[in-house]
Amino acid sequence: MNKTERGRFGSKLGAILAAAGSAVGLGNVWRFPYETGSNGGAAFILIYLLCILFLGLPVVLAEFAVGRHGKTNAARAFTLMGGSRHWRLIGFLGVLTGFLILSYYGVAAGWTLEYVFQSGINGFAGKGPEQFAADFQQFASDPLRPMLCLFIFLLLTCGIVVLGVQKGIERGAKMMMSLLFVFVLILVVCSLSLPNAMAGVEFLFKPDFSKVTGATFLAAMGQAFFSLSLGMGCLCTYASYFRSDEKLMNDAFSVASIDTCIAILSGLIIFPAAFSVGISPDAGPSLVFITLPNVFQQAFSALPLVSYCFSLLFYLLLAMAALTSSISMLEVVTAFVSEELQIRRRWAALGSSLFCLLLGICCSLSLGPWADYKIWGMGFFDLFDFLTAKILLPGGGFLIAVYVGWFADKKILRDEITNGGTVAVPLYGVFRFLLRYVAPTGILAIFLDQMGVF
Ligand code: PHE
Repeated sequence: MNKTERGRFGSKLGAILAAAGSAVGLGNVWRFPYETGSNGGAAFILIYLLCILFLGLPVVLAEFAVGRHGKTNAARAFTLMGGSRHWRLIGFLGVLTGFLILSYYGVAAGWTLEYVFQSGINGFAGKGPEQFAADFQQFASDPLRPMLCLFIFLLLTCGIVVLGVQKGIERGAKMMMSLLFVFVLILVVCSLSLPNAMAGVEFLFKPDFSKVTGATFLAAMGQAFFSLSLGMGCLCTYASYFRSDEKLMNDAFSVASIDTCIAILSGLIIFPAAFSVGISPDAGPSLVFITLPNVFQQAFSALPLVSYCFSLLFYLLLAMAALTSSISMLEVVTAFVSEELQIRRRWAALGSSLFCLLLGICCSLSLGPWADYKIWGMGFFDLFDFLTAKILLPGGGFLIAVYVGWFADKKILRDEITNGGTVAVPLYGVFRFLLRYVAPTGILAIFLDQMGVF
């Protein structure tokens, strides 16, 4: 057997759930609610939906087409659609982004394991708001504990990737995504049953356009790309394992719909609970780790068992969502290393995970003992977040839209989207228009905004 023989998703459902697993992650349950909270609620969500539809979806479809056509790792796939070989730069950038994101995402994902543990041993019982803030600060800046969590998290990620495309990624996604849907629904029902929950629902669905500024628009676009895992070859790598009869347009719609539903349902878990105990929803990144455990304690103070189960389910949900996303990041890197260096998947995954562990340790230490070491005024954790979410992802998305929209072979593209002309795709013209004009302009706007140009 060839050392690097490629795997393939076994079923259509498996393929969609794997791609949706990549998209649904900390971005939905952690980032989306705090972005919505700090950007004024429903108006932000409305703009976010428009961004998913007009900017995100065309790039998802473009990544799918490149991946399935190339049937290889992200770097090589971008040389196979035509145009100059220099376009493989997109893939190299993607692999680099994969290493960097996984390193700091793994640290935050490790925190979720700690919170699963704490809620499991009922460690939140009887604590007040100050205590939650102090505990989180102390934990995140501890020199050892977060690293242990990071190690366990990367071990889980690597273990699943090593099992391969069908037995690891696809099976893991099917199991975890199904559990995730069930957990989300239980939590939404619990949260909506709280007194004054409707204030939270109103915050989510009743737009107040007076709060919309240019920054709201740009924040929504950034969130859309982060949440859809766009711009770093993740979806392209997964599509390289798709079967040839997979209908890419339908898959792109399914993945974007699942991702958006989970984000909105997360909002329906978090805001009704927060409003019910009168806590402001605009706490920023600490919302999930400081504000929420407190909300859960207060909201269900009369029912300690419900409070216990609610917290445990919520952090389990967060950990699983993070895991299906980190698997996809490691897969981009593993496929590249294994196919380009011709080494077995398991060694490629293990080596890449070790490298991410080292980088991740630096990120984790930057929140504690290394807090004084700064590059451009940022510690490693913040620097990696800034470089990836604000520069490399939008930059990659822009390049993909330009490459596939303007330089890739038109016939190959059409053949991929229509499965060689066997599937009618009435929206093909709209897709091309969005990809060529709307997406690059929109992404460029985020990019410039995040560089501080506006
Ligand atoms: N989409 C993931 C999330 O929502 C994050 C991610 C970004 C995953 C880029 C892969 C690539 O958490």
